[in-house]
Amino acid sequence: MAIQWFPGHMNKARKALEERITDIDVVIEMLDARLPGSSANPMIGRSTRGKKTLKILNKQDLADPEVTKLWLDYYCARPGTLAIGLDAGERAPALKLIAACRELAPSRSGLDKPLRVLICGIPNVGKSTLINSLTGRRIAKTGNEPGITKGQQRILLADDIELIDTPGMLWPKIIVEEGGYNLAASGAVGRNALDEEEVVLVLLTYLARRYPEALQARYKLDEVVGLQDTQLLDAIGRRRGAMLGGGKVNIQKAAEIVLTDFRAGSIGRLSLELPEEWVVWEARGREQESRRQSERAQQRLDRGLKPKTPRES
Ligand code: G4P
Repeated sequence: MAIQWFPGHMNKARKALEERITDIDVVIEMLDARLPGSSANPMIGRSTRGKKTLKILNKQDLADPEVTKLWLDYYCARPGTLAIGLDAGERAPALKLIAACRELAPSRSGLDKPLRVLICGIPNVGKSTLINSLTGRRIAKTGNEPGITKGQQRILLADDIELIDTPGMLWPKIIVEEGGYNLAASGAVGRNALDEEEVVLVLLTYLARRYPEALQARYKLDEVVGLQDTQLLDAIGRRRGAMLGGGKVNIQKAAEIVLTDFRAGSIGRLSLELPEEWVVWEARGREQESRRQSERAQQRLDRGLKPKTPRES
């Protein structure tokens, strides 16, 4: 399944990010703790390369704590990178952010050398929720400054730490297939970009492998292991009374039930990817994409046309 879209304002957001990035000391990238690899925008990664980075694994209350720990270690092993877990229940998110940013850029402090931090992330990752809880403290006036576009705001985390917010940003084309499904399961990509039933079948396959007991308990199923994805969805539909006439299961309704439960954390604290899985998926996605691009270039050459420069993916 290919999930694709190209909302024009994403390009604008990327330009705004690139204009802003030169005088930034630390980039905070907010990720979904249940799917850190899939929720990392490759466009943001490219635009902010070489900058000190703080990865926030947000919504950790919904994710498997053991898997979140693996992801935190994975990111912290990268040079110039720190990672912290966070969720909306955190009493003092500003303190966590301040400590991490100061650790990343110790030479920036005091009013003459303020620490400038940019925060970005894909839509629905919880950035507004975090910003709202931060702005409960101190908001800087957003003046008519170049580089601060509409939709960006500045927040003073401390007297000498300025946080610049950017609009939530998706990217033009998802090349990692598993990433597309995971983003769809989390609700980060819109309904019209995906086949809900297919997304749920992929989700159930993963959950049945990694968290069979949680599925069994939530839906009071006799068994989970050994069932095919469609049998599992059928069994869930029956248990939850999602029926059509004639004893048939309303598959769409059953799929909606599973998605709603997953997004609300009602099945349990679940993660959809391990770092080691993501590395394999990403490599495969890149390989497939590069093959597709070579084939397309060859087709153009065969038709006597010049190959196009590869579009950002
Ligand atoms: P965004 O700005 O990045 O697009 O995301 P936003 O803050 O709007 O959050 C998206 C959804 O995620 C919201 O739910 C929000 O409540 C929820 N959320 C944010 N942070 C956390 C968290 O740490 N844990 C959990 N469990 N949920 C979080 P919503 O259903 O869209 O809206 P509402 O229920 O808040 O009205």
